[in-house]
Amino acid sequence: MDAIRIRGGKVLKGNLKVSGAKNAALPILSATLLADGPSLLRNVPVLRDIDTTLALLRFLGCETSFDKERHEVTLHTTRLSRAEAPYELVKQMRASVLVLGPMIARHGRAKVSLPGGCAIGARPIDQHLKGLEAMGAKIKLEKGYVIAEGPGNGGRLRGADFAFDLPTVTGSENLMMAAALAKGRTTLWNCAREPEVEELGRVLNKMGARVDGAGTDVVHIDGVDELSPFDHAIIPDRIEAGTYMIAAAAVPDSDVRVEGAVLENLEALVLKMRQAGVTLERDGDAVRVTRRGPLKPVNVTTAPHPGFPTDMQAQFLVLMTRAEGESVMTETIFENRFMHVPELTRMGANIEIHGRAAIVKGAEQLEGASVMATDLRASASLVIAGLFAQGETEVRRVYHLDRGYERMEERLAALGADCERVKDAEG
Ligand code: EPZ
Repeated sequence: MDAIRIRGGKVLKGNLKVSGAKNAALPILSATLLADGPSLLRNVPVLRDIDTTLALLRFLGCETSFDKERHEVTLHTTRLSRAEAPYELVKQMRASVLVLGPMIARHGRAKVSLPGGCAIGARPIDQHLKGLEAMGAKIKLEKGYVIAEGPGNGGRLRGADFAFDLPTVTGSENLMMAAALAKGRTTLWNCAREPEVEELGRVLNKMGARVDGAGTDVVHIDGVDELSPFDHAIIPDRIEAGTYMIAAAAVPDSDVRVEGAVLENLEALVLKMRQAGVTLERDGDAVRVTRRGPLKPVNVTTAPHPGFPTDMQAQFLVLMTRAEGESVMTETIFENRFMHVPELTRMGANIEIHGRAAIVKGAEQLEGASVMATDLRASASLVIAGLFAQGETEVRRVYHLDRGYERMEERLAALGADCERVKDAEG
């Protein structure tokens, strides 16, 4: 397996362009199931999760091709030959559940493996299923699979009013896609407001759907009889942008221009980074990140958008190991999203976990060590720690990292970091 080896202390300088947003691309790829014919997606990030989704779409009968040089995906979603998402594929990536809504909307039936938990938590899909039932679907759970059927033995879904018990990103996306072809109006209350949900709404409307309010907490969808294929360029990845902004802030005297960082989509993070003493200046369609002098400790509580993103918690926590004082990171979205902490303490960080809160006593000079990646964002935080730790850090099992970051070691090396991808001791 691959590892990334980093020798800490190198100042980061230069320009970095973020890729297309993984968490926008995944639902949009699933949305192609709603229409016949060739769709073209541009600015698609070259990531393991994209390959996994394309493999699932091919399993369902789609023809796909991914030009990784041009970052373009073409999909011919003719008649599906299957309406089943098997455990072998879904267990690799829980976002595979995003084919459920489109399949039942388009073909009246779907059999999708329950995603199972993952490293960061149980991550149930009860809200997805309750919403589909509200639209007339019959849902059965059998042998770890969701068996869904449209009303009247595979008929067309009916528009409905549905309120989520809590904002769920993929739950909102699944039901928006299901409602797009339902008969009548669907109103979804307490929807997730992430920019990626808004982006899906834009794409569905490009396909001929009638979605109003995507990106806000109330979304109206007037079902139509048919949708068309589309040509769309994916928005930049705000979490990737935020990750590199933190990396630049973590290494003193760095000066990095993060191209594609849309400040409006990262307001909570930007506010907290500025409070910590990081300078963030808009520079065209980029953000220039500099940090001179000490970092101040800042408390963070994760929340659904527009609150502080849970996907940035691990990265900000690493930044706080450099602050002069104590800060508290509270993770409210997932029950087990501090797995980066034991690895950071092996590097000398002083962090105590109390339930959902991690208390970080900063200003530690971390020591390089061999550490283990566990989930996507935890892996990124360990790489950031390696950038400023003394000596050499080896982050192992970076396949976690490759799920959501394109060639991170090459991009950091281009900014002056001393890092490379190697085969780790596990071979
Ligand atoms: C999306 O996951 C993202 N993934 C995650 O990013 C992100 O961390 C998460 O939203 C929160 O922002 C994609 O968009 C592909 P949720 P999702 O449903 O949709 C609970 C990354 O690093 N819940 O918004 O699965 C759930 O347990 C990944 O790129 C239910 O209880 O997250 C969690 O506590 C990791 N029942 C909370 O809601 C449900 O039916 C938010 O989960 C659905 C969710």
